[in-house]
Amino acid sequence: MRKDLLRILDLSAPELRAVLASARAWKRRGNRRGAPRPLAGKTLAMIFQKASTRTRVSFEVGMTRLGGHALFLSPADTQIGRGEPVRDTARVLSRYVDGIVIRTFLHETAEEMAAWAGVPVINGLTDDHHPCQVLADLMTAQERGIDLGGMKVAFIGDGNNVANSWVEAAHLLGFSLRVACPKGFEPNGRILREASAAGKGDVRVVRDPSEAAEDADILYTDVWTSMGQEQERRRRLRAFRGYCVDDSLLRAARKGAIVMHCLPAHRGEEITEEVMEGPRSAVFDEAENRMHVQMALLSRLISN
Ligand code: CP
Ligand code: NVA
Repeated sequence: MRKDLLRILDLSAPELRAVLASARAWKRRGNRRGAPRPLAGKTLAMIFQKASTRTRVSFEVGMTRLGGHALFLSPADTQIGRGEPVRDTARVLSRYVDGIVIRTFLHETAEEMAAWAGVPVINGLTDDHHPCQVLADLMTAQERGIDLGGMKVAFIGDGNNVANSWVEAAHLLGFSLRVACPKGFEPNGRILREASAAGKGDVRVVRDPSEAAEDADILYTDVWTSMGQEQERRRRLRAFRGYCVDDSLLRAARKGAIVMHCLPAHRGEEITEEVMEGPRSAVFDEAENRMHVQMALLSRLISN
């Protein structure tokens, strides 16, 4: 495996499948006494320049379960917030810790951190990618008996960081992905090109949510206004009208299709209360699986 995990394409298909297998093993073991603690004595630094519930808590608890320790570093309490260069922070932290998680705005910031750090760097979300989320989603799909290589996924809404990571996963594993979004809100063009050159998926951007949902195994959605875009909220609310995952869209999908959302959700915007709380919703399994997938990643990257 590469030193860092900044995007899904940092993994090969066999590596991705191995991470999911290891995540399943961590999930089965639970937190019982006698479970292996491969990261005893190891420390993870977690730099968060955006808010987080799931990513922060799942990495922190995951690190504890692996026998290690995690440090939460917010810009308010560190020199990062006062403008200490990323390359200096990377080199200093690498003298103390065994791994770094970074959640930030520009993807280039995470890349710079990885280039200068002597220890593995994991992307906990940037404006362009959210690989840990999509790994947890893939694990959840597998648990529901869905074949990752042959599935059909409909991503409804904004072509954002999560959508970009889905594009990469589709090409890496070879499944079908339809992204339904309004004009101007497509997944990142460069990522679409790079992923298509790297893989064999069937990825298409469409306008009509029901066209994307037709025959889908998974309906996926995320917020219409991501962190950092708050000033665009009103424009986005208008642009995404008609892109809500509701019961009628779910009826267009395959019988037994599941609904996913990375959370946090805005009920009544990208998803209805009924769908979110309904029997087809897998959202809390996805949230739980963040921890198992990240334990798999941490144990592989840090003990490398
Ligand atoms: N899905 C996700 O990354 O959630 P948080 O923003 O709470 O970490
Ligand atoms: N697209 C969302 C995901 C939050 C987990 C954001 O970037 O805010």
